[in-house]
Amino acid sequence: MLLERYPKEVELKGGKSVTLRPMVRTDEEELLDFFGGLTDLDRLYLRNDVSNPGVIRDWIKNIDYKRVFPILACAGSRIVGNATLHRKPFGWMRHMGGVRIVISPDYRKHGLARLLANEIFDNSIDEELEKLTAEVVADQKTVLEVFSKLGFREEAVMRDYVLDAVGNRQNLVIMTRDLI
Ligand SMILES: CC(C)(COP(=O)(O)OP(=O)(O)OC[C@H]1O[C@@H](n2cnc3c(N)ncnc32)[C@H](O)[C@@H]1OP(=O)(O)O)[C@@H](O)C(=O)NCCC(=O)NCCS
Repeated sequence: MLLERYPKEVELKGGKSVTLRPMVRTDEEELLDFFGGLTDLDRLYLRNDVSNPGVIRDWIKNIDYKRVFPILACAGSRIVGNATLHRKPFGWMRHMGGVRIVISPDYRKHGLARLLANEIFDNSIDEELEKLTAEVVADQKTVLEVFSKLGFREEAVMRDYVLDAVGNRQNLVIMTRDLI
């Protein structure tokens, strides 16, 4: 079981340590602080309005590790990274997983996204998933580059597929990574 892997202490580039563990129901306040610490540019392109406390409360109330497995990176009591594996256990996409990763601005470029991605890859293989997807707004050139470095390749571009936080249509890049 995935839960048996955690908590896990890992060291980042530069020497800082963080603890990796699944999200639990008591994380609401810390998650609000975490998402509140993102830049306006980050929030512009995120799928959900993470500045809305109702969105976070909804995630917390509906934790179901079989559908969404969220791993948090914590520095003490502060959340500094969040990576989620999304899956539909039934139907024709039961071999697929969706990946989302967000890191606090002051913890970026220390290898934390790579560490969390590796956790997601290991967990996905244990869960017998065969392929992962990541969805990135086409304007986010840095994020596209990071996911390429994490082994994802650009599979398709969906034109005008999403509305960003200020209501502009954006192209969405579907990236995939094979696990087998
Ligand atoms: C994208 C994001 C998750 C990267 O997190 P990070 O912890 O800084 O990434 P890492 O330090 O683990 O770097 C992973 C790889 O990308 C590279 N990388 C990191 N930042 C980069 C940048 N700005 N430009 C180019 N490459 C970069 C690293 O060098 C590393 O490659 P390497 O291991 O081969 O050296 C982070 O910037 C973020 O949270 N962005 C906002 C949220 C977002 O848009 N998330 C994506 C939605 S799914």
